[in-house]
Amino acid sequence: MAAPRFLRSSLLPLLRTTITPIAPQLPKPRPFSNSSSSQSPPKMSPTDTLIDLAKSRRTIYKLGNTSPVPDAKIEELVNAAILNVPSSFNTQSTRLLVLLHQEHEKLWDIVIDKFRELVKNGAVPEELWKNQTLPKLEGMQGAVGTVLFYEDPAHIKPFSEKFALYKDHFQPWADHSNAMHQYFLWTGLESLGFGANLQHYNPLIDTPVAKQWDIPADWRLVAQLVFGSPEGGPGEKAQKPIEERVKIYGKP
Ligand SMILES: Cc1cc2nc3c(=O)[nH]c(=O)nc-3n(C[C@H](O)[C@H](O)[C@H](O)COP(=O)(O)O)c2cc1C
Repeated sequence: MAAPRFLRSSLLPLLRTTITPIAPQLPKPRPFSNSSSSQSPPKMSPTDTLIDLAKSRRTIYKLGNTSPVPDAKIEELVNAAILNVPSSFNTQSTRLLVLLHQEHEKLWDIVIDKFRELVKNGAVPEELWKNQTLPKLEGMQGAVGTVLFYEDPAHIKPFSEKFALYKDHFQPWADHSNAMHQYFLWTGLESLGFGANLQHYNPLIDTPVAKQWDIPADWRLVAQLVFGSPEGGPGEKAQKPIEERVKIYGKP
């Protein structure tokens, strides 16, 4: 049975054929110091380090479950995100659910079960499910962990009431701040030696996930960042010309 049109279009982001061609090269190994040489490597400026980290953050779909660091390092990074990423009016409305190892696997069982329902009721074609979606979801399940990014509206509403002039902006600003958390953790996990990719299986999975991990019903799930050992490189990435995307005035 064909899926209703609206359902198909709302499922489109979930059905993205996300297994992009993997470039043959693996991520470049990081430079290491040569103990036989007395010369220390040239020190990078903080800005060069930042740019290097930004360049290294890529979408990696082929992930394994070998962790390059102890779990405590992941926790340290997640806590650094929650403490240091800014939010409008310092609302601090972003919430993070971090699922590691077996808990991460449980999450992807939930996603797979939800999709099985969609296949059963005809919303997702069997062929697509068997050949693309299921292998993709099993790939996610084979990683180390997933960070789920939420917004807690209880911390946005009082600001909308207090600052009536900006009331329509608080939700988009909350999403901006949520995205900053996503970017910080995506880049930070890469710096720890993980590969990661960003997914959006919300709202399909919101209810069973909330039930499984005791998440308040009004928290809004925004995105899921899957991470694991990088078992392949990123895909090719085309860049539009900088001149089309950046304008600078005032240069001498
Ligand atoms: C806001 C945002 C949403 C995204 N959503 C998805 C997604 O749902 N599924 C997916 O596989 N990739 C998703 N991506 C990954 C992008 O496709 C990817 O970042 C982009 O193609 C650039 O490649 P790069 O990450 O390797 O630099 C998303 C990225 C961003 C920034």
